[in-house]
Amino acid sequence: MPQPHLRTVVVLAAGEGKRMKSALPKVLHPLLGRTLLGHVLAAAAPLGADRTVVVVGHGADQVRGHLAEVDPDAVPVLQARQLGTGHAVRIALDAVPEAAGTVVVINGDVPLLRPETVAALVEAHEGAGAAATVLAAEVPDPTGLGRIVRDAGGRLEQIVEERDATPEQRALREINAGIYAFDVARLRDALGKLSTDNDQGEEYLTDVFGLLRDAGEPVAVHCAPDHVETLGCNDRVELAALRRLLRDRVNEGWMRAGVSILDPHTTWIDVTVTVERDAVIDQNTQLQGATVVGAGATVGPDTTLIDTTVAEGASVVRSHAVGAEVGPRATVGPFAYLRPAAKLAEKAKVGTFVEVKNSEVGAGAKVPHLSYVGDATIGAKANIGAATIFVNYDGVNKHRTVVGEAAFVGCDTSLIAPVEVGAGAYIAAGSAITQDVPPGALGVTRAPQRAIEGWVARKRAGTASAAAAEAARQAREGASGEAGAAREGD
Ligand code: UD1
Ligand code: MG
Repeated sequence: MPQPHLRTVVVLAAGEGKRMKSALPKVLHPLLGRTLLGHVLAAAAPLGADRTVVVVGHGADQVRGHLAEVDPDAVPVLQARQLGTGHAVRIALDAVPEAAGTVVVINGDVPLLRPETVAALVEAHEGAGAAATVLAAEVPDPTGLGRIVRDAGGRLEQIVEERDATPEQRALREINAGIYAFDVARLRDALGKLSTDNDQGEEYLTDVFGLLRDAGEPVAVHCAPDHVETLGCNDRVELAALRRLLRDRVNEGWMRAGVSILDPHTTWIDVTVTVERDAVIDQNTQLQGATVVGAGATVGPDTTLIDTTVAEGASVVRSHAVGAEVGPRATVGPFAYLRPAAKLAEKAKVGTFVEVKNSEVGAGAKVPHLSYVGDATIGAKANIGAATIFVNYDGVNKHRTVVGEAAFVGCDTSLIAPVEVGAGAYIAAGSAITQDVPPGALGVTRAPQRAIEGWVARKRAGTASAAAAEAARQAREGASGEAGAAREGD
């Protein structure tokens, strides 16, 4: 005999979300680090449910694919036709015949829901021994939502959809958030009795409350501490509004934890990011994905970090980084681009208009200006002059360059990989290096300089250059004539 599940979570995610006008199913739209569905799953995760069932329909393959990434234990169940929220839950429960105890049902489009609120709903429900408990909230604008209808004694009578409501019911501002706890056995029983006798001709999950109450079962309302948590998302305007609300919540959390956020309205931090104490986040900054900002580091202004680690005391100014690691007290920018596997060791410097990809920049090494560093290992304390290009790509394959410790690469050098510059070696400015340079040697590939006298007068006569050269020649001659006269007068 399999053990009965004592808690099951069902997430309803089969709807199309027509008003999003998107090829992407609504629940897969991103919101500060997770999809809408990902946020809902995260809010339910601390319940420690034995089983999570996600009802999929529109874009089922995409939603299944996403689930496999973010919550591989969750079980997708297909609702081929969207015949209503009651129908969706019925299908979900058919997939978990062993479920017993409590089932928590959550609409897939309420991303601001907090884990604490779901936990409090379940605790209230189980503590009261209720057959069904709905999460409710007083909202400023209840348009489009189901209303909580209470009897004279204040007890839940029924939940009425706006389109089926009387004018008096529509005036109610207490709404159904679309989040519920049920006793599974009594829910199964009631779902079997749902009708489609309503404006949409659908099986409404919300009708379960009236049915249970009429059967004398205890049904309850649990009020959300903050109605913002219950906000759903129907179009992209609402999605943007939720994004702002979540931004404020996340920023407030970090500021209370000891992080300075200089302009919270222009700072967007994914819920998946970690920021340590005394970090300073300057304006117009986005921290995304698995980004970690260490203690006392400064990031911004005008910086985007995606899946990037910035160690303690480092600084990143007006830059863009993806999948990079910035070591302790290293400095980046302004205007740097760090690409995947760019790894900067302690106190390394990557300066202005420098792009780094799949390369290690050693401790205290400097790449201050206008360079491309690709597929390279740069030793500690090496200095890479302005406009150095690590020529890593031959059109077919990528090759590595190694620059040894404390090597000095002069400006405007091409290091044509595969090539190695030894420890302490120098490269003369303007060289194109194709062969290894031994430690301590000077590598130089420049052609000797020539000056062809009088070339401009002959080949560019009549130009401003020719006139300037002539004036300079006369001035030089005049000066040497005067100097000669002065000597004669001695
Ligand atoms: C639902 C509630 C309403 C509540 C509101 C909160 C019902 C009948 N009404 O209305 O009282 O105030 O949520 O946002 O439940 N879904 C399926 N399969 C279906 C239909 C829907 O999986 O056949 C999913 C949707 O993808 C969505 C969720 O269920 O995630 C809610 O469906 P939606 O159509 O948005 O219901 P509302 O009309 O908003
Ligand atoms: Mg809805």
